[in-house]
Amino acid sequence: MAIVVIRQDDKIDDWKEALQLYAPQIAVYDYREEHPREAVKMAVVWKHPPGSLQGYPNLECISSSGAGVDFLFEDDRLPKHLPITRVVDEYLSKDMSEHVIALIFSLLKNLYHYKVDQFNKIWKPVGYKRISDLTIGIMGLGALGSVLAKDLVRFGFKVRGWSSSEKNIQGVETFTGPAGRTAFLEATQILVCLLPLTDDTKGILNAGLFRQLPKGAYLINVARGGHLVDGDLLEMLDNGHLSGAALDVYHQEPLSLEHPFWEHPKVHMTPHYASVSETISVVPQIVENYRRLASGEELLNLVSEDKKY
Ligand code: GLV
Repeated sequence: MAIVVIRQDDKIDDWKEALQLYAPQIAVYDYREEHPREAVKMAVVWKHPPGSLQGYPNLECISSSGAGVDFLFEDDRLPKHLPITRVVDEYLSKDMSEHVIALIFSLLKNLYHYKVDQFNKIWKPVGYKRISDLTIGIMGLGALGSVLAKDLVRFGFKVRGWSSSEKNIQGVETFTGPAGRTAFLEATQILVCLLPLTDDTKGILNAGLFRQLPKGAYLINVARGGHLVDGDLLEMLDNGHLSGAALDVYHQEPLSLEHPFWEHPKVHMTPHYASVSETISVVPQIVENYRRLASGEELLNLVSEDKKY
């Protein structure tokens, strides 16, 4: 019985070591090394090369080492009908919440604006806003969105949330499904996207949706680049309907140097780093699932085959 780690970044050794340290009784292989493929029961993956999950005759489970699983469904050679699990982790949710809150406070107090003024040696105070001035709308109230919503409520923001199924979070005005979307958007001044990327949500951040936001609204996309229609965002920034956007995720990562986002004065970019799975906090749930697999118990954080998240 063994685990194979498949990913294309430079973290493969970290994951292998962390798994071996936490569960020395399990054999763990780097997919690039010679390994007995028939021994592998579980694949721990992140943005694997398409097709690399084939050729494991006894594979029983695919475990995403992040919160998202959209990359798996882009692989048309993904072994069919195997259980897929994802990570639900306190740190992942907290880190995301802290990142978005940092962005919101920087906006309230114009910190990015002053950084640019400083470079240009400009002394020009502009008005600031207060917490009580702002309504934040969160799209997606799952493991990440619900933690952010609660944290923002604690700070005293007016918070509203939109999700596909009904949610009840104290202090948050919630809206559901296509019918609730217009009402959700019309009073949202800062829109935070934390939706899973699925066929239903691809391109959801488009001109039609942006038009439903009040003039001057601001976009924070920390979910996936595929949610956003880049050209529509640029159009809405340039015509002044949106006041700005903070983006952590992109269609192509790293973003091509030719992309207009790099030099757009109203776009604030971070390199997909809002919230990153840490081996130390995530490995225990992966090993627990490995144990459950062997004993036939229900797996933790299972992805729905229908919903694809
Ligand atoms: C990061 O983007 C994740 O899905 O964990």
